[in-house]
Amino acid sequence: MKSYKIAIIGGDGTGPEVTAEAVKVMDAVAPKFGFKVEKTYFDFGGERYKRTGEILPDGAIDELKQHDAILLGAIGHPDVKPGILEKGLLLRMRFELDQYINLRPVRLFPGVETPIKDKGPAEIDYVVVRENTGDAYCGAGGFMMKGTPQEVAEQSALYSRFQVDRCLKYAFEYARKYGKKSRGVGKENTLGLVGKTNVLTYIYDLWERAFHEIGEKYYPDIRRDYYHVDATCMWMIKSPEWFDVLVTGNLFGDIITDLGAITQGGMGIAAGGNINPEGVSMFEPIGGSAPKYTGQGVINPLAAICAMGMMLQTLGQEAAAEKVEQAVRWVTANKLKSLAAGKMGYSTSEVGDMVAQKVAE
Ligand code: IPM
Ligand code: MN
Repeated sequence: MKSYKIAIIGGDGTGPEVTAEAVKVMDAVAPKFGFKVEKTYFDFGGERYKRTGEILPDGAIDELKQHDAILLGAIGHPDVKPGILEKGLLLRMRFELDQYINLRPVRLFPGVETPIKDKGPAEIDYVVVRENTGDAYCGAGGFMMKGTPQEVAEQSALYSRFQVDRCLKYAFEYARKYGKKSRGVGKENTLGLVGKTNVLTYIYDLWERAFHEIGEKYYPDIRRDYYHVDATCMWMIKSPEWFDVLVTGNLFGDIITDLGAITQGGMGIAAGGNINPEGVSMFEPIGGSAPKYTGQGVINPLAAICAMGMMLQTLGQEAAAEKVEQAVRWVTANKLKSLAAGKMGYSTSEVGDMVAQKVAE
């Protein structure tokens, strides 16, 4: 029987609670599809940092590399200055495990309220492929004359052709496999590049040239569109049905996926995968640690459950992943009053139970 070694990092705040529900569903779906999961728990996060002063202990990355995938809850602690855990833990894992893709579906499930008037699940159904290693996230920069009136701050966005090419290749492959035509909901598979070629005339020039070169040569079956990022934000609200698969740099991807998340019902449902197609990937709900709800059993675990579903898909357990998504759709359509914390009509673990029951049917 196929067995997967899964590293589980609950993290901070409500992270461990939602992760527990994702694990519950994973344990329920695995026997149904004939595979096993072997879990290792890691206590990385704000509490450990406060206790030991250590964010990611020596050897942790090597230990994580021994796993097939990582399930992450949330990182962020109210007593720790913003940036420390994000850089020291989340971004470090993304970088050191070379998870160069951040895959973020924007999908409105049935029964879920969207703030966009007159749009439903048929219209809000696309995926953002966010590059996950470069751009303004590369850490290049510094201060001059810090703290003086003459202070200068500089922070660079960097992209190599190598980073751009591997991301585009993943995005084209993804569009070919999971685009709207392949899923039977559209006439074409389309990849849209989101950039800012009118101002970022170096970085997005590189992206655009690579996009058309690779597309023309290897993916002539995939339609290519280009959008400026500002216009993308507008169309994400006005005409989200235009989009199929979008690909973009790290910073634009960060920003537009928060906008996308709110159109799909918010942080209670939005999930993402930090993917290294040749290595160890990490899956997370994209909302934060929501510290004020910690321990109350009111937080929505569906985003964590969906992240676990994406993990199964990436591991090659496509049918099990589909089953998880269907179960989540059933719960949003038939059970939950709202996706918001405290307003679901059920507790965190009751929502997990309902999904777990449904996948085991
Ligand atoms: C995200 C988050 C992170 C990011 C932060 C916490 C570093 O906003 O996963 O989108 O900017 O990538
Ligand atoms: Mn973000």
